[in-house]
Amino acid sequence: MENLEQFIGSFSFDGRLAEVDIIGSIAHTKMLVKTKIISSSDGNKIVAGLASILKDLKNGWKIPKEEDIHFAVEKELIRRIGVVGGKMRTARSRNDQVATDLRLYIKDASKAIENLLNNFQRILVKKASDNIDVIMPGFTHLQPAQPILASHHLLAYAYMAQRDKERLEDCCKRVDVLSLGSAALAGTSFKIDRRYTAKLLGFKNVSENSLDGVSDRDFAIEFVFCMSVISLHLTRFCEEIILWMNPEFCYITIDDKFTSGSSIMPQKRNPDCAEVIRGKSGRVFGDLTAFFTIVKSLPLAYNRDLQEDKPPVFDAFDSVKRCLEVMNEMIASLKFIKENTLKSTEKGFIAATEIADYLAGKNVPFRTAHGIVKDIVLYCKKHSKTLNELSIEEFNKFSPIFKKDIFKCLDAKNIADMKVSYGSTSRKSVVRQIESIKRKLK
Ligand code: ARG
Repeated sequence: MENLEQFIGSFSFDGRLAEVDIIGSIAHTKMLVKTKIISSSDGNKIVAGLASILKDLKNGWKIPKEEDIHFAVEKELIRRIGVVGGKMRTARSRNDQVATDLRLYIKDASKAIENLLNNFQRILVKKASDNIDVIMPGFTHLQPAQPILASHHLLAYAYMAQRDKERLEDCCKRVDVLSLGSAALAGTSFKIDRRYTAKLLGFKNVSENSLDGVSDRDFAIEFVFCMSVISLHLTRFCEEIILWMNPEFCYITIDDKFTSGSSIMPQKRNPDCAEVIRGKSGRVFGDLTAFFTIVKSLPLAYNRDLQEDKPPVFDAFDSVKRCLEVMNEMIASLKFIKENTLKSTEKGFIAATEIADYLAGKNVPFRTAHGIVKDIVLYCKKHSKTLNELSIEEFNKFSPIFKKDIFKCLDAKNIADMKVSYGSTSRKSVVRQIESIKRKLK
């Protein structure tokens, strides 16, 4: 039977709600006193008892096992102050209690993630400013496309992080709702003051429908979704770090401590941290799928299935938090090898679009210009030449429109700087992006 109790219960994984559970109970008790549902002398005993449990927990004391953390706190309270502790349960159920705990927990968790995302952006902005002279190929289809500033590339991730923060803030609007007072499902006959409890706990709103109050888990699913998108963004960056470290690219180095050697191949430095971050996304996406599946088809109101909501929230939070911590350190150590990134722009006829734009700027229909430059590239391939090895005579074989000023369209740095459209890769535009992210960080 003891084993079954363990099976039914959640003590093995909900212990980390202890702190928010006690904070919630203190607020609930104060509300019971304010509304005169319990006396202030009973209320004071309960609040003092809860505070002493909280203090011991913070000092590393372990609360004795029960079915779940809510029962564990209640039993411990009664052990400490006697049966009066049982009054804390008035006008409340574990159903509205656990929903409230989870909301309080997610509020704190969101703040922790937001801080890490702020640091992530700060590091990227610093890297972008320090490396404003680094030119590299931009890719589409992982094929060399057009030259870009490495800073422009880094800042793309800062903008992703900005949306990640905004998404989290938006999610928090729906987390910021007090469930407590919904009781088991129908509300309570006691004249409680839910607004007061909400104020004590720092909730902006109070749930309007008690059935929804105890059974809604959208807010937590959204939180795990937010974690999933952050994780997704990190996988894209890590994939690039892995590629850029590959000797075929050799664009960057990162501190050795983020890599490991091979037990058999002495020459290797493997990008383990980037790989682990990429791999962790599997867990986080799995948490989201698990959560959806747990809530799917559940009739109203509370069902014990909902108890399984906690592992996905904790796991997604822990994984993303740790990944961001490591990512921040890792990218702080990232160094571009700017000779290599520049050299790389000589491959893959990366100036081709600029040459076509040159012709189009001189009234050649872009479609025709595209065909001309395609022929030039074929010519280069045939004669094993790069575009900037061509002479003006060779250019003129393909079109008389080419003049000597075509050569400034062949230099990768010039090409990048010639991009004048808003949001583009020119130095001026990238500096503006740096300033814009900095302003958002203030
Ligand atoms: N441990 C439960 C959970 O995490 C608490 C709520 C239990 N409610 C109930 N009616 N049995 O969801």
